[in-house]
Amino acid sequence: METLILSGRETSKSIRNKLKEEISELPWTPQLAVILVGNDPASAVYVRNKEKGCAAVGIRAKDVKLSENITPEELRKIIVELDSDPDVDGILLQLPLPEHLDEKDFLPLISYKKDVDGFHPVNQGKLFMGENSLFSCTPNGIIQILKHYNIRMSGKHAVVVGRSNIVGKPMAGLLLREDATVTVCHSKTTDLEKHVRRADILVVAAGKRNLINPIWIQLDTVVIDVGMHRLENGKVGGDLDTEALIGRVAALTPVPGGVGPMTITMLLHNTVKASIENRR
Ligand code: GUN
Repeated sequence: METLILSGRETSKSIRNKLKEEISELPWTPQLAVILVGNDPASAVYVRNKEKGCAAVGIRAKDVKLSENITPEELRKIIVELDSDPDVDGILLQLPLPEHLDEKDFLPLISYKKDVDGFHPVNQGKLFMGENSLFSCTPNGIIQILKHYNIRMSGKHAVVVGRSNIVGKPMAGLLLREDATVTVCHSKTTDLEKHVRRADILVVAAGKRNLINPIWIQLDTVVIDVGMHRLENGKVGGDLDTEALIGRVAALTPVPGGVGPMTITMLLHNTVKASIENRR
């Protein structure tokens, strides 16, 4: 069987082109505040890529780099100020924060209208009530990939492996919005194999490699791999052994080049969406 490769790079390009055009027609330039606390090298790379993404579509990035040793009071004050600044459309607080700062004390300071990560309880709640809101970027990126390749979700059985607040749970909510029938599996699920075998669309966000045996996956399944791992051979791979699936399933997202490129693109999408809502 020929396996369709679902490219996040291609999907991302198409969405970014539309965003660029949309932004160029606005009478203002949207602005995203990107807050990075401390010197975590991986976070520094993510933040740089987010700012590059902004520049590529015409969003202003307000780069807020803060010392590892900032006090909770100081950080609180900075977030509150950005939140009340009408020229700031979205606020991204890069996680993880340094040890002495608890994200639970700071994320709620970002109002749901500027919550471009889609982490706020109001945004998550609206999603599950079928209302429009700022959706979590990675799962919304997956929906956009499926739409880009005209993969039908309505009436299909979607199986999500993983129940994090950032991926698994919002993924289930978004698939429900598309009229899929959704099963959510997690670390305490008994007989994972039985559920995986019944998937028309399988979304794996387990955070663990090889939890799923490729032979469980049926031939006509569309496979989405959210994982990202450094392999022993130095390459990057997902939660699944993709090599074993090519030629065996209907479609799959590669790692790298699948889900990964979509996350930043959906952050840019959310920034524009927030900007239009907030300034209208
Ligand atoms: N750290 C790793 N991924 C993310 C993300 O999507 N958003 C934020 N704010 N921090 C992260």
